[in-house]
Amino acid sequence: MTLSTASLQCQQGPHPLRALVETILFGIETLEAVHSSHGIPYPSLDDPNQSMTALDGDEAVENATQLIVTAAAQLIATARKPIDTVQNYALGMYLTTSLGFAVEANVADILKGAGPQGLHTKEISAINGVDAVGMTRVLRHLAAHHVFKEVTPNVFANNQVSSLLAKVKSLEEIQADPSSQFEGAGRVAWIAHAADVSLKSSTALSTFVIDPKGNNAPFNIAMNETCTVWEWFKRPENSMRRTRFTEAMNGAAAHYPPELYINAVDWSGLENNDVVVDIGGGVGNVTWILAQSFPHLHYIVQDMEKVIPESKKFWSATSPEHISTGRIQIQAYDFFTPQPVKAAAVYFMRYIVHDWPDALVLKILKNIRDAAGPSSKLVLFDIVLPNACRTKISTGSTQKSASVEILPLGIQWATSLDMQMLNLFNAQERTLEEFIALGRAANWEFENLKPAKPLSAIVFSAA
Ligand SMILES: C[S@@+](CC[C@H](N)C(=O)[O-])C[C@H]1O[C@@H](n2cnc3c(N)ncnc32)[C@H](O)[C@@H]1O
Repeated sequence: MTLSTASLQCQQGPHPLRALVETILFGIETLEAVHSSHGIPYPSLDDPNQSMTALDGDEAVENATQLIVTAAAQLIATARKPIDTVQNYALGMYLTTSLGFAVEANVADILKGAGPQGLHTKEISAINGVDAVGMTRVLRHLAAHHVFKEVTPNVFANNQVSSLLAKVKSLEEIQADPSSQFEGAGRVAWIAHAADVSLKSSTALSTFVIDPKGNNAPFNIAMNETCTVWEWFKRPENSMRRTRFTEAMNGAAAHYPPELYINAVDWSGLENNDVVVDIGGGVGNVTWILAQSFPHLHYIVQDMEKVIPESKKFWSATSPEHISTGRIQIQAYDFFTPQPVKAAAVYFMRYIVHDWPDALVLKILKNIRDAAGPSSKLVLFDIVLPNACRTKISTGSTQKSASVEILPLGIQWATSLDMQMLNLFNAQERTLEEFIALGRAANWEFENLKPAKPLSAIVFSAA
């Protein structure tokens, strides 16, 4: 560096990347401290068996991880040439479709048994019958984004990320009965859903946003359909898509900390056999978590008629005793019709309100309000959407402190889901103010917010 450039830098203050690096370092030091205090090594990206550790869900680890990821994304956006950033983003669909391919061609399932040395794509091809040349290119694109590892040229192994694409069933079971391939594999089901229904619908997102009038959602324009996704799922030709989506929702519950639900209201303070209604509950996996911790309550899981057989299957596999004792009741119910369960202690909905536009949410909330008793509560488990304004955060000790303006932690996931809701349902994630206003319009009084990641509990009482 010449003297003149050095003095120019001094005049301009610290390099803009430095504060971000210090912030990342602060997060790393937190992770190091937590991992070493628990005697757990930090998981290696290359290790397919370490996608979860005992520290998953630990608050300090979650916060430090979010801090590192948010600051690192800003570091990349600041350091990378802007043209490279937009060009990379513009081709983002190839990641979605490549993930979809890997699931459809059972690549992670095939590599599960191969260990760290992996398999040549010709060997993978001999098992799944997929053309090796095209497969190599798609797997290389994924490996370039840390999904799979290209161990030596054309030889791929699972890593921590790609191992999440493997289903629960064995390859033989998947090949023998593809229609049940997603059973128990909710996260894989979710990826396949995203690479199919979401990706196809997203081609009409811009058209819809420019002129939304007369269309239900980008899904309707892209698929040339007038019905909702839920109605579309009911058709016999879409039964695989419907069961896959139901599995995807099961998978979502499995990886969220149970405290999200357990801390939402004072469940243990409710009387024996007080009724708790899980509206649009899918198979009822949030209810399942609550029923383990609060067996003194009576639960009713409501969903559309078509979902009931899947729900019965879920309960007979997980806790048949709850059904035989009547502790849990499964009920076919359309939430646009009057709520049949009157004066329940708690009505709750997870990932329902975000599926619908305001006018229809209002109908759902009013139906519940009409059935509610004076002490009924309504709990909405949903994302509370932040805006994308940066806020200043300070990290570190006095020797190594950093002050930097970064985006709200976790915002990229929140806005991605907001896009997903717009894309499929013309619905949305909402800010707290928007939730409160909707509740008020349906005569529900906002009581409190239990903020948590990735879902918060928004609690209302019958006004
Ligand atoms: C995003 S999923 C959420 C499922 C569940 N609450 C969970 O978090 O796992 C939306 C659910 O709403 C259900 N649903 C859609 N329309 C409905 C209606 N009109 N009445 C009742 N349930 C409905 C779907 O079948 C689906 O199970």
